[in-house]
Amino acid sequence: MKTLLNLSLAAMILTGGAFLYADDEREEHEHHRSSMVAQPVTPQEKSTVALYTKECGACHMAYQPQVLPKRSWEKTMKMLDNHFGSDATLDPQDHKTIQNYLVSHASKNDQMSDIKGNIALRISETPYFIREHREVSKKMVTQPAVKSFANCNACHTQATNGSYREREVRIPNYAHWEE
Ligand code: HEC
Ligand code: HEC
Repeated sequence: MKTLLNLSLAAMILTGGAFLYADDEREEHEHHRSSMVAQPVTPQEKSTVALYTKECGACHMAYQPQVLPKRSWEKTMKMLDNHFGSDATLDPQDHKTIQNYLVSHASKNDQMSDIKGNIALRISETPYFIREHREVSKKMVTQPAVKSFANCNACHTQATNGSYREREVRIPNYAHWEE
C-alpha cells in the first residue's frame, strides 16, 4: 500500500501536476514523502538528473523543474549565452536532454508564471513566490550569507532535496523562523 502511494505520488510529480513542497498543515500525509522531488525511476532518468545537476547546479543549486512553467524554461534555455551575466551554454546534445527534462516536469500552475504577461526567468518573480516570501525582509536576503533569493538553499536547508517546508527554514544570522 505504501509503495503504491509512493508510486502514484511520484507519477503525479513527474507529470508536473504538483508543486514540490508540503505545507506544515499537511504534515499528516508527509510520512509518505521523504522528499518532494520525484526520485529518478529509470537509469535513463537517473543519468538525465545527474547531467542536469552537474550542468545547471554548477553556479547555484539545480532548481527543481517544478518551480517554473514550461515557457520560462524554454526562454531560459534559448538565451544561455546571456544567462544573468553568465555564459551557461551547453553542447547541443546536453542542451536537448536538459530542455526536455525541464519542460516535461515544468509546473502547470498559473501562480508559478509571471505577472503582467511577462515570461518569468526568475522563480522570485512569480506571484506564488512573492506571496510566500512577503514576510521575508530585504535585509535577510541581501546579507552576504544569502545574497539573493536565487540562493534558495541558503535559507531552505532541504532545498536541494526539493523540500521547502517552513520548519526546515533557517535564515542565516536570524532567529529560528516562526510564523
Ligand atoms: C556559469 C554559471 C551558471 C550556470 C552554469 C547556470 N547558471 Fe543559472 N544563474 C546564474 C547566475 C549568476 C544567476 C543569477 C543569480 C542571482 O541573481 O543571485 C542565475 C539564475 C538562474 C535562475 C533564476 C533564479 C531566481 O529565481 O532568481 C534560473 C531559473 C537559472 N539560473 C537556471 C539555470 C539553468 C536551467 C541552468 C542550466 C542550463 C543554469 N541556470 C546554469 C549562473 C549560472
Ligand atoms: C532569505 C531566505 C530565503 C530564501 C533565499 C528563499 N526562501 Fe523560500 N521561504 C523563506 C521563508 C522564511 C519562508 C516561510 C515564509 C512564511 O511562512 O511567511 C519561505 C517559504 C517558501 C515556500 C513555501 C513553503 C510552505 O510550506 O508553505 C516555498 C515553496 C519556498 N519558500 C521556495 C523557495 C525557493 C524555490 C527559493 C529559491 C528560488 C526560496 N524559497 C528562497 C525564506 C527564503
